[in-house]
Amino acid sequence: MSTFKNEGFIHIDDLDQHALDAHRPTIGERNRVDYRAVAKDVGRIGEGKKYLIRTHGCQMNEHDTEIMSGMLEEMGYQPTAVLEDADFVLYNTCAVRENAEDKVFGHIGTLKPMKAKNPNLMIGLCGCMAQEEVVRQKIQEKHPHVDIVFGTHNVHMLPELLEQAHHTKETIFEVWDKSDATIENLPKLRKDKIRAWVNIQYGCNKFCTYCIVPFTRGAERSRLPEDILAELRDLAAEGYKEVTLLGQNVNDYGIDLGNVDFGDLLEMAAKVEGLERIRFTTSNPWNFTDKMIDTIAKYDNIPSHIHLPAQSGSSAVLRRMKRGYTREEYLELVNRIKTKIPDVTLTTDIIVGFPGETEEQFQETLSLMEEVRYDGAYMFIYSPRAGTPATRLPDDVTDEAKKDRLKRLNEVQDRISLEINKSLEGKVLRVLVESESKNNPDVLQTRTDSNKIVHVRASKDLIGQFVNVRVTEAKTWTLNGELVSEEVPAV
Ligand code: 5AD
Ligand code: SF4
Repeated sequence: MSTFKNEGFIHIDDLDQHALDAHRPTIGERNRVDYRAVAKDVGRIGEGKKYLIRTHGCQMNEHDTEIMSGMLEEMGYQPTAVLEDADFVLYNTCAVRENAEDKVFGHIGTLKPMKAKNPNLMIGLCGCMAQEEVVRQKIQEKHPHVDIVFGTHNVHMLPELLEQAHHTKETIFEVWDKSDATIENLPKLRKDKIRAWVNIQYGCNKFCTYCIVPFTRGAERSRLPEDILAELRDLAAEGYKEVTLLGQNVNDYGIDLGNVDFGDLLEMAAKVEGLERIRFTTSNPWNFTDKMIDTIAKYDNIPSHIHLPAQSGSSAVLRRMKRGYTREEYLELVNRIKTKIPDVTLTTDIIVGFPGETEEQFQETLSLMEEVRYDGAYMFIYSPRAGTPATRLPDDVTDEAKKDRLKRLNEVQDRISLEINKSLEGKVLRVLVESESKNNPDVLQTRTDSNKIVHVRASKDLIGQFVNVRVTEAKTWTLNGELVSEEVPAV
């Protein structure tokens, strides 16, 4: 098991190179294995039992939950949303920020009395937190009522771990610290019948200094294009309208395969008949190629929405984050994108309070927001993650300053989002009708190409279809609209 200890000052470049070398498989070493060949068939040991998976974090985790639900239902388990009814409770966790971890430990703590009353209750923890040694230690010391802990590289072992757990009272820790393989033909129980997630790549080689992902998800591994395309064709045949290609760093897709890149994959996906929207996430500004921009511009079924995490508007902070680009290079990329895709909508991720961030450097982030005019942004206070290089930098921004910066950033972004949304009032947009609205079943939730939610009063029969709506009211995060019969003018 690899550990990353915080032992005094190590030059960031040395540490990254060391970590990178330890994680990187050589080309050709990676293999592709079939789930049926590696997973133990444990039969229907879940017959008559119920499961509940609590999912935290990114879309990758949401999709892993669909895969694990598929495995559990093959074993006979049925889903439940009621904690007290569950025979197996699984936490699929995120390690990106500390508060998400605290929440999971809080939940697990509350299960202790339940487990004491019902020793047959199984409790599991998987996902990124499981990859952290400090987390495993804490489970061992403070939460021994957890039955199984497994990591991001061996999700396929869930059936056999559950089977083993029935024969022991000890916590089973089965966490692999890396994997050179991609696993195909995993069972999947997709939550949605209209939109689907498709993994194209696992892991991250970038080692941004604040980020724990390269340690929890390992080195980049790409699925073979033929496997991805087969999955896309199956989804189209099943009537799915929209897919999102998932990877921690999709721009790097294919580097480990050698003969294909993300631009190629996007183009192949766009040509799959029947898929009306192909989205992707997440792409790093570092190596966002012209080929990708041209492909997005060329195909109508690749929406002109790009999530392009900037993280900061200050070149000095970006250098300390080891993002691989300067403010000027980022803005130059944004200009190239806007020139070739004039109707593009951009969204971003920003971290405030990174070690050493001065007020002036923070103001450069504010000015970046004004200059790019993002449609939306996910904004976070820096959270030190044990073992990441940034923890060696003095964390000298006060809590007060961090909170104040987040508040000011939110205010700027909210104003810009509302201004952009207001400019859409009266316009007719093509939307995909996704579902009933979460808060009001009389209203439908629909989504534009640009990934904006439009609430519309219309018949539920339209769910799964593309319709045209006129925007009647703009809010900061969503739009209200009405159904219209007229055609959307060609762009
Ligand atoms: N602290 C705060 N935010 C973080 N992110 C990643 N690591 C950290 C951290 N240590 C944010 C980045 C990333 C998003 C998924 O989470 O903005 O793009
Ligand atoms: Fe983390 Fe993304 Fe950087 Fe990879 S590219 S280290 S996932 S922030």
